Amino acid sequence: MMRTLAFVLGGVGAAGLAAVLAISGTPTQAQQQAKATADSTTAPAIVDTGSLKGPRQPIFFRHDIHAGQLKMQCQYCHYSVAVSTEPGIPSMQTCMGCHLVVSGSDSSAKTEIKKVRDAWNAKQPVEWVRVHFLARHAHFPHQRHIKALGPSACTTCHGDVARMPQVFKVNNVNNMGFCVTCHLERNVSRDCSVCHY
Ligand code: HEC
Ligand code: HEC
Ligand code: HEC
Ligand code: HEC
Ligand code: HEC
Repeated sequence: MMRTLAFVLGGVGAAGLAAVLAISGTPTQAQQQAKATADSTTAPAIVDTGSLKGPRQPIFFRHDIHAGQLKMQCQYCHYSVAVSTEPGIPSMQTCMGCHLVVSGSDSSAKTEIKKVRDAWNAKQPVEWVRVHFLARHAHFPHQRHIKALGPSACTTCHGDVARMPQVFKVNNVNNMGFCVTCHLERNVSRDCSVCHY
């Protein structure tokens, strides 16, 4: 297991990895990190970020690398998606569980990972730009949907995030038709008060 991960991390020795696993603490996190194994589909090297869809983020964090190539589960970072209205955005501590050791294999990755470390050292949380959001008067509980549609349902609403170098909107979720169409198909309540209060 460790040897596979060491291969993925390229250059990080087994001692470094033992450190990563030790820092991470809880067994679930260690398990998750052990899952970060190589995939045959390697995320592409990207030189021109200007042409990517979606809002530019303060750090070029790539889902196609973390969720795609490294196969990290969505819930490793969006930790409350199955239990709360809000899916949760990972803290810097989650990132540093790996990035204390993983510094990047090419110059672009090194530059971006340095930003993660600098933010951590300065105790400055990263201000990610929000991609999906609803108007104040509408209410969306993630946990109800994950329970009913399953943990892999993210793609239904968000598209194939695991293949996105930068997250963009596949569906306009802030649209009553988008919600009601599926509620109608699945025979879920369409009472106004379910979504508006
Ligand atoms: C290593 C941590 C990590 C993993 C694993 C991860 N994400 Fe994320 N996700 C983030 C961070 C950080 C952001 C905010 C920055 C951004 O938008 O890229 C984010 C943003 C998002 C957003 C956009 C949120 C918004 O503002 O609307 C979606 C949707 C999302 N993730 C879905 C997923 C899905 C689906 C998976 C699994 C296939 C996944 N994420 C796996 C860390 C992660
Ligand atoms: C399970 C370990 C792990 C966790 C947790 C993790 N990363 Fe990474 N990350 C990696 C690996 C491995 C690479 C690939 C490094 C390389 O070979 O260049 C990487 C690459 C990166 C890169 C450079 C490539 C890119 O994505 O643009 C950035 C920036 C980055 N991570 C930011 C983050 C942030 C921010 C978080 C927390 C939200 C995070 N990482 C969480 C393991 C992790
Ligand atoms: C039925 C549609 C649907 C499904 C399924 C769904 N989402 Fe969402 N997601 C939304 C909507 C709608 C919003 C905007 C919510 C808001 O503004 O209150 C959102 C927002 C988000 C955000 C941004 C939250 C923030 O605080 O910035 C993340 C991250 C996210 N979703 C991740 C996920 C993940 C991971 C999954 C799968 C485990 C998932 N979503 C499944 C509809 C969905
Ligand atoms: C892909 C299908 C799908 C989409 C799209 C969808 N929903 Fe749902 N929604 C469901 C299902 C299935 C349930 C039933 C969950 C259960 O039985 O607990 C549900 C339940 C709900 C509930 C709880 C209902 C109750 O009886 O308490 C709310 C609130 C809700 N959805 C809001 C929304 C909003 C707002 C949107 C659009 C942003 C949306 N949904 C989009 C499938 C969907
Ligand atoms: C399944 C969730 C859901 C249900 C059920 C629902 N809505 Fe909505 N509604 C939304 C969402 C999401 C929006 C998008 C937010 C926006 O456009 O401002 C919205 C928008 C609206 C708007 C603003 C539209 C606009 O163009 O500004 C009104 C008015 C509205 N809904 C009334 C209702 C009424 C009346 C009912 C009951 C017959 C109802 N809604 C049922 C989710 C829902």
